[in-house]
Amino acid sequence: MNKHGLQAAVAKRRTFAIISHPDAGKTTITEQLLLFGGIVREAGTVKARKSGNFAKSDWMEIEQKRGISVTSSVMQFDYDDKRINILDTPGHEDFSEDTYRTLMAVDSAVMVIDAAKGIEPQTKKLFQICKMRGIPIFTFMNKLDRDSRAPMELVAQLEEVLGIEAYPMNWPIGSGRIFRGLYDRYNHRVEVFQPATAGRVFKKLTPDGQLENDDELASDEIYQEAKEEMDLISEAGNQFDAQKIAQGQQTPVFFGSALVNFGVQTFLDAYLEMAPAPGPHQTTTATEIEPTAEQFSAFIFKIQANMNPHHRDRIAFARICSGEFVKGMDVTLSRTEKSVRLSNVTEFMANTRENVESAVAGDIIGLYDTGNFQIGDTIHTGKAALAYPKLPQFTPELFMRVSPKNVMKQKSFHKGIQQLVQEGAIQLYTTYLTNQYILGAVGQLQFEVFKFRMKNEYNSDVLLEPLGHKTARWIDPEQLDEKMSSARNILVKDRNGAPLFLFENKFAERWFQDKYPDVQLTSKL
Ligand code: G4P
Repeated sequence: MNKHGLQAAVAKRRTFAIISHPDAGKTTITEQLLLFGGIVREAGTVKARKSGNFAKSDWMEIEQKRGISVTSSVMQFDYDDKRINILDTPGHEDFSEDTYRTLMAVDSAVMVIDAAKGIEPQTKKLFQICKMRGIPIFTFMNKLDRDSRAPMELVAQLEEVLGIEAYPMNWPIGSGRIFRGLYDRYNHRVEVFQPATAGRVFKKLTPDGQLENDDELASDEIYQEAKEEMDLISEAGNQFDAQKIAQGQQTPVFFGSALVNFGVQTFLDAYLEMAPAPGPHQTTTATEIEPTAEQFSAFIFKIQANMNPHHRDRIAFARICSGEFVKGMDVTLSRTEKSVRLSNVTEFMANTRENVESAVAGDIIGLYDTGNFQIGDTIHTGKAALAYPKLPQFTPELFMRVSPKNVMKQKSFHKGIQQLVQEGAIQLYTTYLTNQYILGAVGQLQFEVFKFRMKNEYNSDVLLEPLGHKTARWIDPEQLDEKMSSARNILVKDRNGAPLFLFENKFAERWFQDKYPDVQLTSKL
């Protein structure tokens, strides 16, 4: 691809994630988007994998059918001359670390809110991550086909609870049984709610925002109320500010119903106009790198093992930040400075994993991994060194001692642990003297998933012995004296061999600090 071709290809990319609290409608809206992209033909296809508010058993059953869950962790499709990459984020809070890293790989986010419930805890958390990154956030108020909170209240909540300016792009005319449609000030039209018909019906607005030739709707009280509110917002509300939107300080707000596919396409069309194409990325080696730079570069934000039960493979998900990927290219792995040939690579369509021909900045590629890659790794072409900032790791708070049920099956036990740990959801520690394995995770569910996968994928039954909550604190190896280990802490090594203490609680940590005032403890490596 020449420079011009690369520029055009990058400009077409829109890479985003949908953030929401479980049950707000993320799966349903994703599915509608795939319908528009011609990827699925019927609503209900993605639903099968629903991972939002899953019960444990659901999740495991679904994970067994890995094919489905994986193809939907990155979905790519074309719509309206754009190439869209949707990165899925697990809904359960025990997977927040995975979600966090995925949000590092997107250029914008869509925040779906249940209009009957307003902002819920998980939305708030995920919003904070997007805000910290300063990426544009677009809001979709969902489930307007049901009785909803007053739209004024929903918009006010965005400002009060999340601290982001809201700019309503359209406004609901009633909701639930009295839902009439959307007053769409962006497109100068009223979109009429007709759930029973397949087509979309619009009524034009005059330049000053009045309905053209429609006395019936114009005299409808519910319409009038919505129109008054919209007028009020136009006069006294926030001004549309493209720059603020680009920096995540103002969120365009859309209303609709994913379930009955109302307002979703209106949202998508406006979103694609306004959402950014891939931009420059900060590196630790130079200043910034442009997405259209000749040098290919990408970082790995996720590793997943055994995605297809028929092939024992492991895939590293890489977000391309610059240049063009060409199959079979040689790249440098920044961490080791070794050369790696990228010959076995896939991209992600919703239904199949097609073999990648070429991909550019903004795209996600899946690299078949035999143990070369780690989360946070940078790969690049060219002689000039290049690395992206490390991805943050959450410090685990829950710990379990782990051992094989059958001591004769050490080999599969070790293999399973090494591979699953590499995915990043659980951390592995080894005790100093006895070389026992301890696992750390952010949430309980991680352990259950681990146990299940050890059995199913590695044929290894494991024993997990809860150690409860601990405070993990790293210590400078120079300052370490093994005698510092006591009944109130466990001295372990992390997987890089760095020593740390797992303290029973804050008191135990304080007691330790009082006893060894010169020792520096840190909460992160
Ligand atoms: P999630 O991925 O964010 O967890 O949410 P999901 O799309 O699975 O939606 C959660 C529930 O909300 C589903 O109902 C879904 O049908 C419903 N839903 C989503 N969007 C809308 C909407 O616009 N209007 C209405 N009325 N409902 C909506 P469920 O009963 O939990 O699942 P199912 O039995 O329908 O599959």
